[in-house]
Amino acid sequence: MTRVMRSFKAPLWSLIILFCCYSQVWAGQKPAQAAIASAHPLATQAGHEILRKGGNAFDAAVAVTAVLAVVEPYSSGLGGGGFWLLHRASDGFQTMLDGRERAPLAAHRDLYLDEQGEVVAQKSIDGALAAGIPGVPAALVHLTENYGKLSLTELLQPAMAIAAKGFAVDEYYRRMASWRLPVLQAHEASAQQFLLQGEVPPAGHLIKQPDLADTLKALAERGIDGFYRGELAQRLVDGVRAAGGIWTLQDLADYRVVERRPITGHYQGMRITSAAPPSSGGIAILTILNILQELNYPDLSEPQRTHVLVEAMRRAYRDRAEYLGDPDFVQVPVEKLTHPLYGAGLARGIDLQRATPSQSQHQATSTEGQDTTHFSILDRQGNRVAATLSINYPFGAGVVVPGTGVLLNDEMDDFSASPGVPNVYGLVGGEANAIEGGKRMLSSMTPTFVEDAQRIAILGTPGGSRIITMVLLGILEMAEGRGPQAWVSRPRFHHQYLPDVIQMEADALSETLIGQLTGMGHNFKPLKNRYGNMQAVVWDKSSGQVDAASDPRGVGMAKTE
Ligand code: GLY
Repeated sequence: MTRVMRSFKAPLWSLIILFCCYSQVWAGQKPAQAAIASAHPLATQAGHEILRKGGNAFDAAVAVTAVLAVVEPYSSGLGGGGFWLLHRASDGFQTMLDGRERAPLAAHRDLYLDEQGEVVAQKSIDGALAAGIPGVPAALVHLTENYGKLSLTELLQPAMAIAAKGFAVDEYYRRMASWRLPVLQAHEASAQQFLLQGEVPPAGHLIKQPDLADTLKALAERGIDGFYRGELAQRLVDGVRAAGGIWTLQDLADYRVVERRPITGHYQGMRITSAAPPSSGGIAILTILNILQELNYPDLSEPQRTHVLVEAMRRAYRDRAEYLGDPDFVQVPVEKLTHPLYGAGLARGIDLQRATPSQSQHQATSTEGQDTTHFSILDRQGNRVAATLSINYPFGAGVVVPGTGVLLNDEMDDFSASPGVPNVYGLVGGEANAIEGGKRMLSSMTPTFVEDAQRIAILGTPGGSRIITMVLLGILEMAEGRGPQAWVSRPRFHHQYLPDVIQMEADALSETLIGQLTGMGHNFKPLKNRYGNMQAVVWDKSSGQVDAASDPRGVGMAKTE
């Protein structure tokens, strides 16, 4: 096994001291502008409107979340969940709001198996049985009450207005709706809300959602109780059960947002703050970065860089399958998996000349989903939000609950329906992520902050199991000194242990490089479509300048003002 020489390896403690010194030097500085990058122009505009009214980044995050819930039904919604990573400038406090969906209490590990014990994949993707208990409405209330300055009514106003007046269908919407057409057609309330005479509406058609506007109003007026208790809760439970689901009133009444300590670590003098379990994102990113640090990634040749990056991804996703799940139900070895010495140990197992085959022969295919959404916000005080939200598959479970406008998620597919059997992203999971009533399903959503001596970055993206490696590639771009336009637009590749292939955008790797890596034992799967929709904001603390970028693959908007 060949080893590379260490050209630079500062002890971890010296990097931490260096970082603390930088933090002291820049403490108290404020950004020259605020910035918002989101997956839809209406959401970015709504966020800036709230900032102009005197709201802070957390207020803006409520407005952006709610507008995305209206205009991106293929990505997120009141029927879904998400993670909001927060940084409060006044005292440096950081937390992650865990608004992830929970399994209904009646859920059990065999929920999606047939009588022969085989997984019936469609049952956890289409229809009401696929839906977890939503967390977005509770998170909107929690964020407003604990971190915002404005009232929930003010913050939900833009979303209510757009839901009532309608938003215009674009080609992106048409693509997502075409993909999910059969399931939308199968449910009357879904067809009524999202289709036109049962078909995908033409570009420019206005999608009006009066029931959703009423549900937002109930939330604005009654807070948590407006969604999780009383009349609306009864309607949700009746509608879900009529469509074959298992929700109860108790499931809704019991739902709680949990604040969790973010995952933190260092790479090449940068401090990484990212999503904690039940997301696998922060842990996997740090495992990979610790491996790269050990192998002096920046000093390697291009083929070796790509090789070790893929090998690091492979190992992090193997650990994801083995160890990660809801920390309220299973003991997740966070310290171990994020420790530099663990990464160093994994690095020692990498042969620098040969790919390590993943153990199983399983060849699941991974879908090329554009579902889930992300936004990044920085206000003029230096408060930050990175939020990644989801209803899982495009248009979630495809079911709108009649009389509520709420589109159900199909996040239950993120559990391991049967350990070793892949989900819609081709991800295999283990016992730690087995289905249990009240448990949160493992996620890949990775809202992240990165700080180096000069810059603070806020980033994240949708993209199912590929989210983690997209954020990772963004961090590596930043480490090389490039700006947010490069992070959001760079061609992408991905390895997730199983299937044992490098999934790649067509132009991600050159023919020469592919040839070299094939010679080392790697397999490739070029993808038909591009993937991801990264939204990034960066604040240069030395100049005060702020920059923001929205992924050219999507229809989003990044705006500073
Ligand atoms: N449903 C996508 C994720 O949570 O990773």
